Amino acid sequence: MTEAWGPGGEDDRPRRGLPGPVRVRVPAKVNLHLGVGPLREDGYHELNTVYQAISIYDELTARRGDTLTLTMEGEGAGELALDESNLAIRAARALAAYTGRPAHARLHLRKQIPLAGGLAGGSADAAAALVACDALWGTDLSRDELAVIAARLGSDVPFLVYGGTALGTGHGETISPILARPTTWHWVVAVADEGLSTPAAYAELDRLRAEYAAPPPLRNADALLAALRGRDPARLGRALGNDLQAAALALRPALATTLKAGEAAGALAGIVSGSGPTCVFLAPDAAEAERIAAELETAGVCRAARTAHGPVPGARIGAGA
Ligand code: C5P
Repeated sequence: MTEAWGPGGEDDRPRRGLPGPVRVRVPAKVNLHLGVGPLREDGYHELNTVYQAISIYDELTARRGDTLTLTMEGEGAGELALDESNLAIRAARALAAYTGRPAHARLHLRKQIPLAGGLAGGSADAAAALVACDALWGTDLSRDELAVIAARLGSDVPFLVYGGTALGTGHGETISPILARPTTWHWVVAVADEGLSTPAAYAELDRLRAEYAAPPPLRNADALLAALRGRDPARLGRALGNDLQAAALALRPALATTLKAGEAAGALAGIVSGSGPTCVFLAPDAAEAERIAAELETAGVCRAARTAHGPVPGARIGAGA
């Protein structure tokens, strides 16, 4: 028996579920602003961040089954653990525990988001598993309820339940959507050869900051938010910022070459995405993004350069599901 910690049988919404496969598409994220405060007693850093979901996607399909299983193809196949440590499995188990039902599903992932890239690929898969299993099992939770479960799985998971552009506070798990007039921003995403560990990047930042006389205050996102409202790519480029970038560059000095190459190729600005090592560049428009991506690939300063746009919605049941 699974013990419920959520509403479980106490609510009377229909619990029919979907008979067939449920296919969910989930985006990657970038942090347009990542202000990192001091290390808290719970092992997390206080954050003030602006997330944006961008059009690089993983796809998770959930089918009915007698147990909980996970298979995968694509980016990171053969490297990513598919056992109980996988965030998609942990998400299915957390939803089952919350709703008091057995965690029975056959999950299959088609990954395009690089592993350990600072694009929240693992968190995206967790958000996708929550949305897919909720539909498969007919547990019919609201996005806000799914975000409560998501917050227990990882700092970035709630954002990927919602998507769009949003402010993240707490350790990143408290999400406030940013309502702005619709604008599409164009990005070039330079994927590195090898991933970086998120805890290692935060620990490196603490080490660098230990040399300061006093810890720097938590940087707010006011300038970034004003630039988003202004809808001017050049202004947004100037407002991009990531406190973890210094740590990522200390751990992976070659990223400085990638950042320089993107700006030399005509990007308005380049930053390390989250804890890295992926670098993202803001382009003035879609055509320029294509050209900058091609130039970065030719220069050989990254494993691959892709174009993407944002904001896009979070984990959503896709066509044909
Ligand atoms: O929340 P998540 O599991 O993705 O975090 C992974 C690790 O990254 C944490 O265990 C912690 O070391 C670090 N982290 C942090 N402060 C945050 C978010 C993550 O120190 N706000």
